[in-house]
Amino acid sequence: MAGERFRDLTGAAVPIVQAPMAGSSGVALAVAALQGGAVGSLPCALITPEQLRVQVAEVRGAVSGPLNINFFCHEIGPAPDETAWHQALARFYAEEGVGPPDSPPPLRAPFDAAMCAVIEELRPEIVSFHFGLPARPLLERVRAAGALLFGNATTVAEARWLAGQGMDAIIAQGSEAGGHAGYFLSGHHPVGTMALVPQIADAVDVPVIAAGGICDARGIAAALILGASAVQLGTAYLPTPESLISATHRARLAGPEAEETTFTNLFTGRLARGMHNRLMNELGPVHPAAPPFPYASGALTELRRVAEADYASFWAGQAAPLGRAEPARALTERLWREASNLLGDRITA
Ligand SMILES: Cc1cc2nc3c(=O)[nH]c(=O)nc-3n(C[C@H](O)[C@H](O)[C@H](O)COP(=O)(O)O)c2cc1C
Repeated sequence: MAGERFRDLTGAAVPIVQAPMAGSSGVALAVAALQGGAVGSLPCALITPEQLRVQVAEVRGAVSGPLNINFFCHEIGPAPDETAWHQALARFYAEEGVGPPDSPPPLRAPFDAAMCAVIEELRPEIVSFHFGLPARPLLERVRAAGALLFGNATTVAEARWLAGQGMDAIIAQGSEAGGHAGYFLSGHHPVGTMALVPQIADAVDVPVIAAGGICDARGIAAALILGASAVQLGTAYLPTPESLISATHRARLAGPEAEETTFTNLFTGRLARGMHNRLMNELGPVHPAAPPFPYASGALTELRRVAEADYASFWAGQAAPLGRAEPARALTERLWREASNLLGDRITA
């Protein structure tokens, strides 16, 4: 039966992972996805260990099932000199009557010993990592806590590397994906989901989870036929009432803006896919003066506050126009019902 390997591995009723989306998803979406039989995810890049404790308790109080706790694994370098970046933003600062913030909000944080202690305490079913993996001692502590380990690959080489580190499943993230591309071995080498999934499925023995550009049942069925054991859906869940996106982001997903997404480094310093806005159109989506990840976000704080539509990131994948504003549990159930019908009695990985 389709998706059986992933369901056996995780205990999920359907081979769908609700993608963790830092800043855009939280408890409500994870609960709804779990109620629909999928793996529910909590992203941790923008929360503290104490907030994670509270969020996991809220999910556990509402529903059982496989819960995935997700971390970024970047290294934070010393605070960069932002003079050139502030100069690039000067005309926007002048127009909006603001400047760089006195005290920027917290940066996206990597997995660390404090978060690891929470994982050991809460023992989630799954822990997934974006931008590579944590240092081996931390990784071994997560493994010893009994969690299944998922790593994100954007190339076959990254998938082989992750398999060598003992991942239980590998997310094959194609370049259609919304949000940050999770490259980590040798820079950004975008490969589409259609090409990436079968190559990674051939290269590794563990289950492959296809991600990127999958927003309806046709995409799910296609990914499973390409060799994936499951899919990870981000953009498909953004229009649901349980996501945390702003009204502006929601309106753009439903409008013509959703038809054009591109990689940009303006909002965080690392390439992520989102819909166009004024900042991207006027500076160009990739600017050499943008400070390294995750520092670039700080200088935009005040601009975002006074004119969100022009200066905020509106992450979305290339299949965004296929999304539907439907409650997340119903969406999950419908997508798998329709994908199952398309797959019939086909046996997949
Ligand atoms: C708004 C948004 C935020 C995201 N944040 C995260 C994150 O915090 N951690 C992560 O591992 N992936 C994150 N991703 C990437 C997803 O895990 C996944 O690769 C992607 O959504 C799949 O492509 P799709 O958006 O076309 O479904 C994010 C994606 C989006 C759209």
